[in-house]
Amino acid sequence: MPNARIAGIGMYVPEQVVTNFDLEKYMETSDAWIQERTGIKERRYAKRTGETTTTMGVEAAKLAIKNAGITADEIDFIIFATLSPDYYFPGCGVLVQRAMKMKEIGALDVRNQCSGFVYALSVGDQYIRSGMYKNILVIGSDKHSFGLDFSTRGRNVSVIFGDGAGAVVLQPTEKEGQGILSTHLHCDGNSAEILAMYNPGTHANYWVDEKLADFDDAEIGQMFMSHAMVDKAQNFPFMDGPSVFKKAIVKIPEAVMEALDANKLATTDIDMLIPHQANLRISQFVQQQLGLPDSHVYNNIQRYGNTTAASIPIALYEAWAEGKIKENDIVCLASFGSGFTWGSALIRW
Ligand code: ACO
Repeated sequence: MPNARIAGIGMYVPEQVVTNFDLEKYMETSDAWIQERTGIKERRYAKRTGETTTTMGVEAAKLAIKNAGITADEIDFIIFATLSPDYYFPGCGVLVQRAMKMKEIGALDVRNQCSGFVYALSVGDQYIRSGMYKNILVIGSDKHSFGLDFSTRGRNVSVIFGDGAGAVVLQPTEKEGQGILSTHLHCDGNSAEILAMYNPGTHANYWVDEKLADFDDAEIGQMFMSHAMVDKAQNFPFMDGPSVFKKAIVKIPEAVMEALDANKLATTDIDMLIPHQANLRISQFVQQQLGLPDSHVYNNIQRYGNTTAASIPIALYEAWAEGKIKENDIVCLASFGSGFTWGSALIRW
């Protein structure tokens, strides 16, 4: 069974830079608060029209395909991770197939939020190992700017997120011990409502604590998109930030150690850790717990904010493009996010 290797990688971020000072114009916040709590200085926002989760994914995919030295015609499967799809349905994968004029191949959307890219990579890895596909396009892309509450009410969430996309092409490698060595995926659905966007949805208050989503019977009749939903800010993401923080700093190191143990490696073998860019303080905690030097951890949340499914492939691309990842290096990807979901992927580059 061949391992999958990352044969090409690409990224795309929109041109528009939005600084913390820009956000001060919309809500009661400050550059100092945002930098101290999250490390973020600026993020990118997509154009309001003409730039979608899919179009950003397509731009990242074009670069990944070019870097793999193949053409879009040679891709035989698409996996698209996002929490902000262009449509409620169908998914973004089919829109990529259309936009890139690909053959009538399969396309799968993955809904695992900040862990979406690691989950998508794991799915692609299994298809390559089984011999089913030879050139898989894996994309992580999110356009948050369209769905954030820019009033003071939503400031704990909206200052964190940014838009962008990353992509890789997976191919089989016959080289022993190279490529994706293992992936490890987890979830704890008990925490589903701690970091979530409840509407539009079909729950009709069933799972959701009344104080979070209190709709009466009359209102429930008009769900998917009602005025009451908008009045109660239920069309925006909800996050209990401190709970997310506490769990993330435990689960990310666990996922890294699980990957190392499965491959009989130690933290000293890691050449580059790419943690999901949730919050610089989370990355710093993880780095400290694993005892890694600064040169072995890549962070770019300062410039892009948290781009959820795109954060790991964007950081991976930049680390690679800056020459910080070389052949044979051990690279560990580690994620944590809504669900809760978390996981890791260990790669010999
Ligand atoms: N600007 C100014 N003040 C703010 C802002 C803001 N943007 N947001 C919240 N505050 C205020 C709150 O209203 C609160 O004020 P109060 O004490 O008067 O009530 C105070 O700051 C503290 O609020 P907390 O939510 O407790 O702030 P905390 O110090 O925990 O920081 C944060 C919030 C940054 C979200 C933090 O909880 C965190 O980093 N959590 C991890 C979550 C995360 O990283 N999520 C990313 C997405 S999920 C993922 O990718 C895994």
